[in-house]
Amino acid sequence: VPKVSKICCIGAGYVGGPTCAVIALKCPHIQVTIVDLNQARIDAWNSSDFNLPIYEPGLEDVVRATRGRNLFFSTDVDGAIRAADLIFVSVNTPTKKTGIGAGYAADLNYVEKATRRIAQIATSSKIVVEKSTVPCRTAESMRVILEANSKPDARFDILSNPEFLAEGTAISDLVSPDRVLIGSLQTHEGKEACKALSEIYANWVPQERILTVGLWSSELSKLAANAMLAQRISSINALSAICEATGANIDEVAHAIGKDTRIGPKFLKASVGFGGSCFQKDILNLVYLSESLHLPEVAAYWRQVVEMNEYQKRRFTRHVVDTLFKTITGKRIAVLGFAFKADTGDTRESAAITIIKHFMEEKALVTIYDPQVEHEQIWMDLQEVSPTFTLQQIKRQVQIAPCALDACAEAEAVVIATEWKEFITLDWEAIYEQMSKPAFIFDGRLLVDSAKLAKIGFKVSSIGRGAEVTA
Ligand code: NAD
Ligand code: UDX
Repeated sequence: VPKVSKICCIGAGYVGGPTCAVIALKCPHIQVTIVDLNQARIDAWNSSDFNLPIYEPGLEDVVRATRGRNLFFSTDVDGAIRAADLIFVSVNTPTKKTGIGAGYAADLNYVEKATRRIAQIATSSKIVVEKSTVPCRTAESMRVILEANSKPDARFDILSNPEFLAEGTAISDLVSPDRVLIGSLQTHEGKEACKALSEIYANWVPQERILTVGLWSSELSKLAANAMLAQRISSINALSAICEATGANIDEVAHAIGKDTRIGPKFLKASVGFGGSCFQKDILNLVYLSESLHLPEVAAYWRQVVEMNEYQKRRFTRHVVDTLFKTITGKRIAVLGFAFKADTGDTRESAAITIIKHFMEEKALVTIYDPQVEHEQIWMDLQEVSPTFTLQQIKRQVQIAPCALDACAEAEAVVIATEWKEFITLDWEAIYEQMSKPAFIFDGRLLVDSAKLAKIGFKVSSIGRGAEVTA
């Protein structure tokens, strides 16, 4: 089995950073270098005050314990490739915006560039691990590129090792994963490489949780896991529409069906729609893969999961407009939460972005508060989603508040878009005092105690609950 004493990770993002920091923590005998082309990102990872480029509970402690010991962040991609025995490719694989498969297919340009760099630089044999989420059989393309460009003494073994961490819980997911999945070619060398990576994880992950499978199963399992998770949310959100129309309560329905051990209680929270960098991208990727394989019915099946999610966001906005007497023009609406979920500063595909876009189109005045998201990021996201608005025009309609109380001052309605815990314990009485009356709350996350708020005087509307909640 090849001995691994030096690891390089290409890509210092949400996955590469936390994943390899935890490897460094759990494997003090291995030197881990995380590299990126983005100087600002690397500088932030190296910052003396630990102002890290991503917010993730527990991450700072891990980086404090390892940085400079056996964990290093650098822009010297070539140096780290040269020195490494094993290389994680953890670069971004966004949905293509133009060209063939635009709007569906994964953009594999970053994976290919990183792969070509490895081939060009490596002077000794390496295990190359595909960590990024990629379409089924990408490892084959990587192998062909590496073999066609390798130096005489360098041979490459390719593994697929998809990452299942969720943002906001990345560190605990990495420290005690449900499973680690490693795919390899079923050749002697492939199996040996697989063993080498398993041994790294075995430093802290119980053996029975380290699953070894074929390369293509491993790649497809990642897309499949995200598709099935997102499908659960779209299913519960589809049911939330029925609840609102009938007076049934989606939390009660979710609880009742979740008691069936075959269904299970997790991931059944109705919401304003799923966001995040993975679900939509990976499903569209699966849709594209299905279409490429001439399986249009399969493609249509998965596409519907994304369509239901878009519908949920539209439905929510429409409900806000309808409830506010069919017009929100010139009305102040406070949006609490901008991140795609709690405990992260990440806003990629956040439902809040789409909802605020709709509010802007209705000419509402929006005030946003989020405890983690950088203001610059909010402006960038709103500009990207509304290209017909200039930043100046956006700023005429949208403000960012320093706290929830300020965001809600004089608002006609409060919209809860992210399930930040701090929103539960806000001084709702004080908020009520400062709001226009009738004061509406639209809880897009089933977060707050609607009966309590109704008692204060709010008109409360929660996703998946019939109108009887309003006092
Ligand atoms: P990210 O955009 O945060 O990070 C990727 C980094 O790679 C960027 O900093 C970029 O500068 C760098 N990069 C790109 N090309 C490079 C190159 N040639 N050399 C050096 N650096 C390069 O992305 P992420 O969220 O960490 O996701 C990475 C991959 O992991 C994606 O395929 C994603 O689908 C997958 N994934 C993400 C999550 C998640 O929760 N974010 C979870 C599981 C899997
Ligand atoms: C997801 C997968 O969970 C993870 O395994 C994979 O590696 C990356 O993609 P992430 O996107 O970080 O992780 O967060 P996740 O907790 O899955 O939430 C995704 C979205 O679904 C969020 O917007 C969240 O608010 C929403 N969600 C989640 C619901 O609306 N209801 C739920 O019951 C669960």
